[in-house]
Amino acid sequence: MTHQTLSRVALVTGAGSGIGRCVAESLALVHSARVYVLDKDAESAAAVVRGITAAGGRAKVCVVDLADGPALRQALPSLTAEFGAPDILINNAGIAAMVPAVDCSLDHWQTTMAVNVTAPMLLMQHALPHMRQAGWGRIVNVASISGLRAGTGRMAYGTSKAALIAMTAQFAVEVADWGVTVNAIAPGPVDTPLVQANHSAATRSTYGDMVPMHRYGTAQEIANGILFLASDQASYITGQTLAIDGGFTAAGVLVSDLFTKTSTAAPAAAVPAAR
Ligand SMILES: NC(=O)c1ccc[n+]([C@@H]2O[C@H](COP(=O)([O-])OP(=O)(O)OC[C@H]3O[C@@H](n4cnc5c(N)ncnc54)[C@H](O)[C@@H]3O)[C@@H](O)[C@H]2O)c1
Repeated sequence: MTHQTLSRVALVTGAGSGIGRCVAESLALVHSARVYVLDKDAESAAAVVRGITAAGGRAKVCVVDLADGPALRQALPSLTAEFGAPDILINNAGIAAMVPAVDCSLDHWQTTMAVNVTAPMLLMQHALPHMRQAGWGRIVNVASISGLRAGTGRMAYGTSKAALIAMTAQFAVEVADWGVTVNAIAPGPVDTPLVQANHSAATRSTYGDMVPMHRYGTAQEIANGILFLASDQASYITGQTLAIDGGFTAAGVLVSDLFTKTSTAAPAAAVPAAR
């Protein structure tokens, strides 16, 4: 980020934990933004704000449940009164649960859509008039590789993240000539409380095999991509989805012992010599 971001106002949802916390802390302490730390969990949001303030940054707690769209829309003007409307919006909060597609309840479906799709839409609608007036804005929506690739138990979650990716492009093209960019990121597996609640040992082992880097990402590695897209440097990137996934979406079949096996096998006589 450049010096232009020094006086920016940022709003980060789900900033009480995991990726959102990391982004909020970096925006406030590394990039000197004034940051709204929005979360439904008042205690964790307050702890993040205390940490930022103690380190010399500026941040404000915003407690709201993103599952309640009408309440969110009503609360936003007062929630963002202290620093003004945000120049940088990071729609990071998301909920996930592993539920078989045929067993997904209407309640689970609606809550997942409300938090992962409807709330980002309402927040973008809230932030965009200010961004348009300012002639500058950055929106980063935190989707998932589950929005790009189907996965077991991911029907509601994956569908919501695919919708978020599509909505990112829809908003991006309408606001492209306002100086506002709208992008998404699609993290692979990241070691955060969300994952600790959802990934069993077997799931961890499966991801270990399927991710070419054979490891989970860290919250900071995901935050680094978000911070780039929220910066002046990313001024000509809009409507895109950046996978930050250790190579997961680039990969097809990964055979860990392929080269061990071929080295002991007889040479493949039918392969023509390279010219
Ligand atoms: N961790 C991963 O492996 C991973 C992978 C792909 C995508 N993601 C996405 O990254 C984002 C952040 O995930 P994380 O792993 O840091 O999660 P996390 O569970 O550590 O943090 C999520 C935060 O969002 C808050 N939140 C949840 N529901 C809310 C609501 N209704 N209203 C307000 N706040 C709410 C929680 O209180 C929590 O503080 C999510 O959108 C998630 O889908 C995570």
